[in-house]
Amino acid sequence: MGHRKIRNLVLAGLMAAGTMALSGTADAAGASDAMLANTCAGCHGTNGVSGGPAIPSIAGMKKEILFSMMQQFKDQSRPSTIMGRIAKGYSEGELHQIAAFFEKQKWVNTTAATDAAMAAKGAKLHKSKKCKGCHEENGATQDSEENMFRMAGQWPGSLYLMMKNYQAHDYPNAPKKMIKRLKKLSDADLHALANFYASQK
Ligand code: HEC
Ligand code: HEC
Repeated sequence: MGHRKIRNLVLAGLMAAGTMALSGTADAAGASDAMLANTCAGCHGTNGVSGGPAIPSIAGMKKEILFSMMQQFKDQSRPSTIMGRIAKGYSEGELHQIAAFFEKQKWVNTTAATDAAMAAKGAKLHKSKKCKGCHEENGATQDSEENMFRMAGQWPGSLYLMMKNYQAHDYPNAPKKMIKRLKKLSDADLHALANFYASQK
């Protein structure tokens, strides 16, 4: 799927879910972790297991990573289409609650079909472009020190969009080594890598 098509899909989803999700935060004072996290479900799926294709699953994300990503969305050091606006609607305390909730949810692999030939090409790139040194276990690793979330079994459309974003926008907190390597890759390479990580179940 092309970048523009995915972006349109994301935007269509946002229009449908955005109003509801944003208005849900108004009277959140004293709400339970689950109630707060429920406003994320419109896009990220029940308990953070996304229905895809362009929105990432966040179930099982370590709480330090989720909290830190939300802070970065808020201060715009993490570029986004919608998450910056959403993150601004929550206090630090609420973000800690939401992060604790998603950490407890079970990761579920994508149901998206992946292309075997593309995944094989992606596996080669994962090694030759040295993604492997940081994204261990074929992308299943999370690293809460550096906000590295799991890529294995993630939606391929969402992985592709993330890589496009690293190529196109400034990410002051992401490793320069990775950005440099990603910028040298073609669109076909990015699709291959997305298929590879998504197929790791
Ligand atoms: C209106 C749809 C929508 C809602 C509601 C929403 N998100 Fe998101 N989320 C997105 C999109 C789209 C992205 C990709 C980044 C972007 O373009 O904003 C994303 C990305 C993320 C990421 C980054 C994942 C990664 O691996 O890089 C996290 C974390 C996240 N959202 C958490 C949340 C939490 C927590 C909530 C509820 C407080 C929430 N989101 C509500 C649409 C949404
Ligand atoms: C030096 C270590 C390092 C290398 C090398 C590296 N990465 Fe990363 N990667 C990270 C870290 C750390 C993050 C989290 C960065 C952030 O957004 O704050 C990340 C994030 C990502 C994400 C987003 C995951 C998510 O859910 O938010 C993708 C996709 C990704 N890397 C793909 C790649 C690919 C493909 C390569 C090889 C071309 C690569 N990385 C090489 C460390 C690395």
